Amino acid sequence: MTDVKPLKLPDKVPTHIAIIMDGNGRWARARSLPRLAGHRAGVDNLRRVLEACVEFGIQYLTIYAFSTENWNRPVDEVRGLMNILEEVIDRELQKLNEKGVQLRHIGRLERLRPELQEKVRHAIELTRNNQKLVLNIAWNYGGRAEIVDAIQQIVADGISPDEVEEDLVSRYLYTAGCPDPDLIIRTAGELRASNFLIWQGAYSEWYIASTYWPEFDREELFKALCEYASRERRFGRVPGSVSPE
Ligand code: FPP
Repeated sequence: MTDVKPLKLPDKVPTHIAIIMDGNGRWARARSLPRLAGHRAGVDNLRRVLEACVEFGIQYLTIYAFSTENWNRPVDEVRGLMNILEEVIDRELQKLNEKGVQLRHIGRLERLRPELQEKVRHAIELTRNNQKLVLNIAWNYGGRAEIVDAIQQIVADGISPDEVEEDLVSRYLYTAGCPDPDLIIRTAGELRASNFLIWQGAYSEWYIASTYWPEFDREELFKALCEYASRERRFGRVPGSVSPE
């Protein structure tokens, strides 16, 4: 990273960034490439953004990589995305572990083929004590499915209605133990949440970049951090009052 331009970070940096990595398909189409080439370029970019997050002192990064709705894409694309996940684990796990990245999965793992589930579980187990950065990979993830799963588990655990309050619900989500995202970034310009972290993102700041994900680089991330630092988070309070941050 010797030729990388040093950037002066703002005073206030988010603890947890979540990203909707959108625009891989459009990036590929603009180059007359197949959609999967866009997803592969997306993975290359993820590596760069992950490094930038470590550089910028981000502690939690959550990425939306495969949604519960993505099963409706063409079979070849779904298969290709599953293969990409497997390749990434095979190729990158050791390096990620050495860098101190803790891998977590959020979503319904049980729908993946058994060998892939096993690789994901192994990656989680291998990296569980790493402290540099927590990387939550949302795979077969849906915010509504997450809330349904939480409710089912709350009921199964025999929790009485008067014990159900917000902190308890948070503890039953896939993200239990993670702080809520401070900043949610969506690339490729769409203005919607797409079923991503709909509980956890209740008070997140949003940043929409028009750039397609494969080109959302360190400088773009830095711009998002500067924009975040300029926002006053009010959590429903009036301007100037103290926030619980
Ligand atoms: C959205 O772009 C992107 C996805 C649905 C997949 C994102 C997945 C990756 C970058 C791979 C990540 C892999 C691992 C292992 C974490 P789109 O296809 O919806 O783009 P479009 O809206 O331009 O068509």
